[in-house]
Amino acid sequence: MDRIIIRGGRRLEGRVPVSGAKNAALTLLPCALLTDQPLTLTNLPRLADVEGFGHLMNELGVSTTIAGLRSGSNLRAMTLDANTIGSTTAPYEIVRRMRASILVLGPLVARAGEATVSLPGGCAIGNRPIDLHLKALEALGAEIELAAGYVRAKAPSGGLTGGHIIFPIVSVGATENALMAATLARGETVIENAAREPEIADLCRCLVAMGAEIEGIGTERLVVQGKSALHGAEHRVMPDRIEAGSYACAAGITGGDLLLEGARADDMHAILVSLTDAGLSVTEEADGIRVKADGPLRPMTLSTAPFPAFPTDMQAQFMAMLTLAQGTSVLTETIFENRYMHVPELARMGADIQVHGRTAIVKGVDRLLGAPVMATDLRASMSLVLAGLAAEGETQVHRVYHLDRGYELLEDKLSAVGADIERAGGG
Ligand code: UD1
Repeated sequence: MDRIIIRGGRRLEGRVPVSGAKNAALTLLPCALLTDQPLTLTNLPRLADVEGFGHLMNELGVSTTIAGLRSGSNLRAMTLDANTIGSTTAPYEIVRRMRASILVLGPLVARAGEATVSLPGGCAIGNRPIDLHLKALEALGAEIELAAGYVRAKAPSGGLTGGHIIFPIVSVGATENALMAATLARGETVIENAAREPEIADLCRCLVAMGAEIEGIGTERLVVQGKSALHGAEHRVMPDRIEAGSYACAAGITGGDLLLEGARADDMHAILVSLTDAGLSVTEEADGIRVKADGPLRPMTLSTAPFPAFPTDMQAQFMAMLTLAQGTSVLTETIFENRYMHVPELARMGADIQVHGRTAIVKGVDRLLGAPVMATDLRASMSLVLAGLAAEGETQVHRVYHLDRGYELLEDKLSAVGADIERAGGG
């Protein structure tokens, strides 16, 4: 298995191009199931999860054509054609590797009248139930059955009908499934306490380009007027705010100066405020956001919560950066119950972190030391890369497949701004 080897201690400086957003891509790809005409997505990141989703779509009988692939480029387009749907089953072998597979449930039941999707089960960061996805589809008239590790959703003979969905807690995935299904449900659907993550607005823009009628985009109340059919469209995937935020932390932890090309400040307000709180200078420029170290890192307090608050997907990277701040930081994770898997690994590199329930107390240390490390999820793995960039000596990050799920051209992008980083086989 591959590993990433980093010899730390170099200041990063230069431009980092921000790729298309993984989490937007994973909800835009299943939109193709909503129409019998082709959907073209541009600026798709080249990531293992995007490839995996493409395979799932093929499994459902959707043809996928890739164009515009240029080596070393972050531009790629995929055309998905679900002229006919060949299968309505998302099998265990695919779903277990990619939880986002659950996002085919809503579109399939809306268009084909039924869907059978393997239950995703838990993952390293927690239990991760799908009850809210199922309740939302029930509110649109679907009948749900659970059997033999699969969930089966069936629409009534006349298809789904509009409904009133009130989410008791904010869920990105459940909002996405509900929205996609509602576009083909008869009549009006109201979704209350909808997630407001920028990826949901990107999904709405794509659905509108496909002929959907949605009001309240970007708010917690979405109103959808269902259509009898949607049509083909072309949509550009939004920039990845979490990738951009991760590289901002790379600037912070190495005392560097990076221009995050293509990053959009509107999508990242809480992240940018937190970077400023940590003592970094953040400026919006014409072609992106510049993040520059401006003296020592300052300790801070942060708590994760749904958008527009600070995202859980940035918690591990900030923690890595704050291990070198001058003082004690307090981080609280409110979204997932088990999202501190990086703590023992950071500790092996010399970090001083104590976890009490959902809160982590990070006492800044003078230096980190390189070590062999591994993590159990994507963002935790990135926190170890960040620590490695600042650590003295060599860090080897194992289980690179986590990073390949979410960071396109990671070593290339970091080497280009001065990091000493390479991928090696074995280990
Ligand atoms: C998405 C993102 C993930 C991010 C998360 C929170 C994708 C592919 N993944 O995940 O990177 O960390 O949003 O911003 O976009 N919950 C339930 N029942 C449900 C669904 C969720 O109780 O049916 C709970 C979850 O356990 C969690 C909370 O709701 O505690 C938020 O999860 P959710 O927003 O649904 O996360 P995902 O959509 O899975």
